[in-house]
Amino acid sequence: VDLQARNTLRLPGQATWFARVRQDEAIPELFSWAEEQGLPVLVIGGGSNIVLRSGFRGLVLAMAIRERHWAMLDSDTARLTLGAGENWHETVLYACKAGYRGIENLALIPGTVGAAPIQNIGAYGAELSQVLHNLEAWDRRESRFRTFTCDDCGLGYRDSCFKQDPERFVITRVRLTLSRHRSFQLSYGELAEEYGHLKDPDSELTPLAVAKTVSDIRRRKLPDPSFLPNAGSFFKNPVVSPETVADLRKTWPELVAYPENDNYKLAAGWLIDQCGWKGYRGSHVGVHSRQALVLIHHGNGTGDELLELAERIREDVRKRFGVILEMEPRVVGNE
Ligand code: EPU
Repeated sequence: VDLQARNTLRLPGQATWFARVRQDEAIPELFSWAEEQGLPVLVIGGGSNIVLRSGFRGLVLAMAIRERHWAMLDSDTARLTLGAGENWHETVLYACKAGYRGIENLALIPGTVGAAPIQNIGAYGAELSQVLHNLEAWDRRESRFRTFTCDDCGLGYRDSCFKQDPERFVITRVRLTLSRHRSFQLSYGELAEEYGHLKDPDSELTPLAVAKTVSDIRRRKLPDPSFLPNAGSFFKNPVVSPETVADLRKTWPELVAYPENDNYKLAAGWLIDQCGWKGYRGSHVGVHSRQALVLIHHGNGTGDELLELAERIREDVRKRFGVILEMEPRVVGNE
């Protein structure tokens, strides 16, 4: 099976075996079959956070469990249960249209619901961790389905226990706690600009309106993967100590840094931009012209070419700023 259409970077690669998982019950069977055959298994969602370096000799499972189920907790709060294969952005619109708040800032993030907790998706001052109630996952090591509370998931900035141990769990179902009346989070720069003039945004705005504004902001900066194949931010924003920030500011007073607990998160896009990479165009791969943190596949390229470019960028940032960039998407392929 061709995996090119199944990863948003549109990198080439074949899988020897492929199955679409529509029901939980199929998971144990598929894993035991793969084990009998001696085949490795790769689980994918929307393919928006992987770099396919080569084909995959083994079984690829595409998560396609569909489910949407509401449980009202009180007049304000509801729990939304979602199958791992639901599309994330459609879910955001669906919840917003029902009048529920909590995920409107996460509009237009590509990928599936099941992938969302793995990297604790976040944008515009919101993070999945703020609304995740619990999730269900198949534990390959213990061969059983398990429920993880939000605390159990070890969620951090673009991080979780699932990301730390990528082979072990298959997320099947996610439950969110949403609210009709909670305050919107509008403090992130571009949202504050848009809505700063409102006296009482909580009663003047709807969650759908906020989701649409977030989508507009994203469309202005971030390339649509269906036109310019990409995997969103290619590196994490590096977290550094206040001393490092003070040091860097001596040379670069305009350094972009945001407080993160007791440390600072540096804007990796700014660092890469300063190294002159923004808008770089190689023969098959390049750097987006409006957001230096996004690498682009222009077609006919390979995962290795993209990783080579990423390495050159990392090296430049390391030399210039002494800061190490960590890749955000997961590199897959075993040929
Ligand atoms: N900047 C530049 N040049 C660039 C890009 C950015 O100077 O080419 C500077 C600007 O000063 C800008 C600042 O960096 O104000 C921050 O940029 P932006 O608001 O675009 O956010 P980001 O830190 O680059 C993060 C997330 C995004 C998320 C946005 C909005 C990470 C790795 N990325 O990007 O998430 O949408 O904030 O909240 O944390 C993703 O994970 O795929 C993703 C797109």
